[in-house]
Amino acid sequence: MEKILDTAKSPRRTATCGQLRKADAGKTITLCGWVHRKRDHGGVSFINLRDRYGITQTVVDDDAGDAVKAAAAELHNEFCIAVTGLVRARPDNMVNPDMPTGEIEVSITDITILNRCEVLPFQVEDESKANEDLRLRYRYLDLRSSGMQQRIALRHEAAFAVREWMHGQGFYEIETPTFVKSTPEGARDYLVPSRLYPGSFYALPQSPQLYKQLLMVSGFDKYFQIARCYRDEDARGDRQPEFTQVDIEMSFVQRDDILAMTEGLMGHIFKKCLGVDLPAQFVRLSYDDAMNTYGSDKPDLRFDLKMQDFSPWVTGSGFQAFEGALDAGGAVKALVVPRAASYSRKQIEELEGVAKIYKAKGLAWMKISRGGAEAQRVLEGGVSKFFLNRVDEICSGLGADEGDLILIVADAKKKVANVALGAVRSRLGKDLGLIEAAEKAGNRFAFAWIVDFPMFSYNEDEGHWEAEHHLFSYPQEQYHATLESDPGSVKGDLYDLVLNGYELASGSIRIHDPELQQRVFNVVGIGREEAEVKFGFLTNAFKYGAPPHGGIAPGLDRLVMLMAGETSIKEVIAFPKNSFAQSPMDGCPSEVDEKQLQELHLHIIKEESK
Ligand code: AMO
Ligand code: AMP
Repeated sequence: MEKILDTAKSPRRTATCGQLRKADAGKTITLCGWVHRKRDHGGVSFINLRDRYGITQTVVDDDAGDAVKAAAAELHNEFCIAVTGLVRARPDNMVNPDMPTGEIEVSITDITILNRCEVLPFQVEDESKANEDLRLRYRYLDLRSSGMQQRIALRHEAAFAVREWMHGQGFYEIETPTFVKSTPEGARDYLVPSRLYPGSFYALPQSPQLYKQLLMVSGFDKYFQIARCYRDEDARGDRQPEFTQVDIEMSFVQRDDILAMTEGLMGHIFKKCLGVDLPAQFVRLSYDDAMNTYGSDKPDLRFDLKMQDFSPWVTGSGFQAFEGALDAGGAVKALVVPRAASYSRKQIEELEGVAKIYKAKGLAWMKISRGGAEAQRVLEGGVSKFFLNRVDEICSGLGADEGDLILIVADAKKKVANVALGAVRSRLGKDLGLIEAAEKAGNRFAFAWIVDFPMFSYNEDEGHWEAEHHLFSYPQEQYHATLESDPGSVKGDLYDLVLNGYELASGSIRIHDPELQQRVFNVVGIGREEAEVKFGFLTNAFKYGAPPHGGIAPGLDRLVMLMAGETSIKEVIAFPKNSFAQSPMDGCPSEVDEKQLQELHLHIIKEESK
């Protein structure tokens, strides 16, 4: 327990643990870092020392001094130490080609223990194997794993690439407030009580939406911000209560200008951070086509597998589930799954389970094989008995052949048929290894624009129209006349950027005309007075020469998650919340002192006394 922690005297680092190569042999250096692994071999000890830059093998030789040996004997994993020693080339047969520093080792002449480490809750490895709660409780240790270190570094690089590109394109980064007025924006607000004004609250912004529009009114023309957003909604793999957007707004632009700018931005980030060349333009699909073909407004286009219309063969088939759906104005949709005729009943039932989660009444199926005296194509199993004499027609119509499985969902609601079969498609992408195959073939990042979204959707439960995106998006010109009479068919100048089945970004051209804005408010049931109270600061600003404008906001967390090949944004956020919106590390949210509550004029109603 001798040498410890006199900060003033602690040795100065002269190299990092990822730096030394054969050419450095003969130098005396000092490394600082954490004991990654320690192995004793007879009289010799190997201490792998780790820092942010890498790992270097250091050695306590047989003939090291007693002080060094004594210090080494004390070391355990994750002790923080400084090591001084002589760099030497490893003998050829000891070179480790898997380590960048594998050609050398450092013969230790001095060890300083900078700090000890208690018994670890889990080992620091490439990826922590502990459960999520433990990882988040000891996040500072989890962040030492090389996986987390690399992902946080990638996040930094991506954010830097964003700033580099936006600056180069003439955008200003402008901060907008985090204490804002509570306005309805889709999710629930996080509220901050005001001490000075009893009963009044600030809200944390769900996004800087209104402020970036105001900046356009102010003439800033090209704005961006790496902005923190707060939404009180249930956490999922790709959602956190606080997250980060690359928020962007531009004046005097049309939709295609914003799409092109975003393509340039993504191209720059992927080239800079991953060395990946993206196509100069991304595929564009209308919302209707995406729903009809993939059953999703965020289709995974790493694999093809398109849904098709099965209705040509329904009439006269005698299968009531299909005929009834068409009679009711619905749809009958089919997926041809190549070479899947070997699927077992159990596997098909599992897929049916997936379809039913999305409200399908069932998942009909049939298989194509060869049979009969002349070995012709035949339909077998499932609902095939209704279609036996139309095998060739169906096969050529759907592009199906022997060995394929046909899956069908019929529903009186088109959207249900599409979405349910779309969910089956997604599941098949995983089950059949289609995603893996695409990635092996170099198709790792499938970007697509989904355009022409509906402006409004009908909330069946509450019986009113809602904005599909937000209230400030521009309804396409050709629908202005029928805005009030037929809200359901109005398409907006709305677009999403989709990557590998995730919604990466959302945006729109905005309304800049106060009257049109009020008409949109009217459709969702916000009258003039209510609009004045809630959004007056925006609509009034529009009266002072607001320029036409539009924007977009890619989610930075999702972007980095997908770049890193992860499926949870927690893997790319230094200190995320768990699925219950808590931080197991610092224990927030937590109760506060009665005095604090009083200052804020708050009184907590306990559950039981409600
Ligand atoms: P939107 O609400 O679609 O649009 O959000 C834009 C993008 O932000 C990301 N995102 C999230 N990421 C993590 N956790 C969340 N809870 C979360 N919610 C959203 C997604 C999403 O595509 N103001 C508009 C943008 C605009 O119109 O310019 C907006 O916020 O990647
Ligand atoms: P049934 O005639 O209801 O016994 O259903 C026969 C098969 O058709 C079962 O495999 C059901 O899953 C399937 N099925 C029933 N209704 C539908 C539907 N609306 N769409 C697709 N398949 C269905």
